[in-house]
Amino acid sequence: MPLPISQRIPQALQEWYLSHHRALPWRETQDPYRIWVSEIILQQTRVNQGLEYYERFIAHFPTVKDLAEAPEDKVLLLWQGLGYYSRARNLHRAAQMVMEQHDGHFPREFLEIRALPGIGDYTAGAISSFAYNSAYPAVDGNVLRVMSRITACTIPIDTTTGKKVLTEAVSSLLKSAEPSIFNQAVIELGALICTPKKPQCSACPISQHCALSGTPEVELYPYKEKQISIRHRYLNYIVIASSSGGYFIRKREDKDIWRGLYEFPLMETNKSTCANELLDLWKVEFAPMTIKSLSAPSFEMEHKLSHQLLHIRVYRAEQTGQESLSEPFLHVTQEELANYAFPVPLARFIKKHQKELSTPLNLLL
Ligand code: ADE
Repeated sequence: MPLPISQRIPQALQEWYLSHHRALPWRETQDPYRIWVSEIILQQTRVNQGLEYYERFIAHFPTVKDLAEAPEDKVLLLWQGLGYYSRARNLHRAAQMVMEQHDGHFPREFLEIRALPGIGDYTAGAISSFAYNSAYPAVDGNVLRVMSRITACTIPIDTTTGKKVLTEAVSSLLKSAEPSIFNQAVIELGALICTPKKPQCSACPISQHCALSGTPEVELYPYKEKQISIRHRYLNYIVIASSSGGYFIRKREDKDIWRGLYEFPLMETNKSTCANELLDLWKVEFAPMTIKSLSAPSFEMEHKLSHQLLHIRVYRAEQTGQESLSEPFLHVTQEELANYAFPVPLARFIKKHQKELSTPLNLLL
């Protein structure tokens, strides 16, 4: 059964949007490439931080051709800090597919857009509606929240049925809407008025069409079924000052977080592990290269991903003997570290310890 919803919503919401929306660069273009880049960035971060990434990305890759022709390391370097690097790799691969399969022209048809790597229903709907004014819903978490409140929908949004009925509700409104404006307007309402906590129902342009407006229950929506379980991981990095100066790093290749980014030698453990135990582990995992004893970590931080909590410790160590780390490790100078994309915690470590990294460890101890 479709959810009951007022067909007067689109006009009221669109009028509000036209006078209240934030001016953002991706809203001032109909270039599907730029809209696509902005949407992928905004899946990773909030608008304020996303703006900086967007401007930088577009300055380096103004067209889909520029992105397609760029080396992957450069794309990842520009993405550094946003997380979910598979999104950047997909963006890159999809740009190459646009060049090869669509003659360099971003496709117009929803199904062709949806077929590109990294583009799901939401992104395809956003590009189709914002760039081409096609009537496809663009339903992300914010839109699900807004729609679940308007309709007081108690079907959890993390179920297929919940998503389906709320997407159908958006589709039904699109029949009386201007798709490029309406979809943006729902997103904007979710960002500015219909926020997860303390929504401003008194300022809402569609409050008279909302089943929960001004009620104490509104914050309980959307309903969710599942509790996410968090996996704890303990990542112990050893930053070695090699006997010839410089550092050992390697590219992460496994199907795991941060694929394609660089890191220092890593020992992952399933619990918090002391320096002595790590030294024993080092002998097993990185022989024949030997290091002097490990002291306290130089850097510690917890880094939260959507389903994982990373407990990160970075130790500095000095090489003993002449055996070094062979492939896949690279040996780079301190200045060269800036040419490689590192995961956020390691980039922070490098930035914070820049001065010490240029000083041999034996002079610091
Ligand atoms: N979040 C997702 N898409 C957005 C857009 N186009 N504008 C602002 N915030 C967004």
